[in-house]
Amino acid sequence: RLRGDASPAKCTRQEQRWRSDHGIVDARERFVQAYGRLRDDLVGDDSCELTDEARRWLAQMIDYNVPGGGEASSKALQLNRGLSVIDSYLLLKQGSEVTEDDFFLACVLGWCVEWFQACALLLDDIMDDSHTRRDQICWYRRPEVGLRGINDGIILKCHILIMIKKYFREKPYFLDLLEIWSEIALQTSLGQMLDLIGTHTGADDLAKYSIEGYRRIVKYKTAYYSFYLPVANALLLSGAKLEDFSGLKDILIEMGIYFQIQDDYLDCFADPNTIGKALGHADNNQIEVLHRNYGKKDSSSVSEVKRTYAALDLKIWAIDLADCEFCPPQDIFSEFERRCYNHLVTSIEAQKDHAAREILKSFLKKIHQRKK
Ligand code: FPP
Ligand code: MG
Repeated sequence: RLRGDASPAKCTRQEQRWRSDHGIVDARERFVQAYGRLRDDLVGDDSCELTDEARRWLAQMIDYNVPGGGEASSKALQLNRGLSVIDSYLLLKQGSEVTEDDFFLACVLGWCVEWFQACALLLDDIMDDSHTRRDQICWYRRPEVGLRGINDGIILKCHILIMIKKYFREKPYFLDLLEIWSEIALQTSLGQMLDLIGTHTGADDLAKYSIEGYRRIVKYKTAYYSFYLPVANALLLSGAKLEDFSGLKDILIEMGIYFQIQDDYLDCFADPNTIGKALGHADNNQIEVLHRNYGKKDSSSVSEVKRTYAALDLKIWAIDLADCEFCPPQDIFSEFERRCYNHLVTSIEAQKDHAAREILKSFLKKIHQRKK
């Protein structure tokens, strides 16, 4: 009854009606349904003497930050990281039956990844002084929240352990789960630290920026939790040993870095008109503009930096892709993407395990040449 892919169903209304008449529920839908139960369990937990007011706050805080924008019912929600646990698990189990209970356990781990992401973004927005997140005002910017939001972030992090203990305490891989979650929590926090320190020192001395430094930041800050964590959870749930899948891990991390590079590139250049006109190489004047504006949050500094990036960033790619100097600058990023993609495809094909190859291909399909 489960499709081997948890992505949203692309079927006509007639097909959808047929599916629902026959009790076929899409994996994504079942994942979304699990959210309410997990949230209600956490809010209803009576190990602490919570008042009704506190429970209302908790429920609202979780709804606002985890699915983002209320109950996890909207089709528009991405939930990519959580759904990756389900997708990967179904691929690992291909050929054998997935019981209701096992599917629910995959949902729990998927939601733990979404809880982790919610915690990281909530806290990151405070550190970055951000205004909006997922099309709504940042949680800490709500007048009734402010810096109390820090505590809410800590609560979200604690929830992960509560859920893992509740559902996995008796499992033979319980300790492995605890280890991977604590390891990746540390890696993500250290990645964030590298980023924060780098922005601070880099603002004084731009020479401190380097491609290796950038890769290190995004590897730890994003790749581990966004790409490896969902798959590591699916592997453990399916009874595999993580050490037997080190090749899979390396490729996922490489993909995570590629993903974040796309993200940062799209952040600056999503508008093709900007990039089309922004050609050329950095000169002293541009470096001086960066020096003056980098690391400042006001909109005029941001646009100055972006304007300069539009010229300078292309040159950075050109240096990195030394033998690509004859490419017209607007093609340099596409050239980078092409190379990354080819390298990933070759590494994926070299994986001996069938399920590992399928998992990697499904990730690559989701991120290759994405436009947002
Ligand atoms: C967003 O980066 C931030 C992250 C991907 C990670 C933030 C990590 C922490 C705050 C540590 C959290 C620790 C635990 C244990 C959950 P960004 O600011 O570059 O992206 P943005 O534009 O989406 O804000
Ligand atoms: Mg941020």
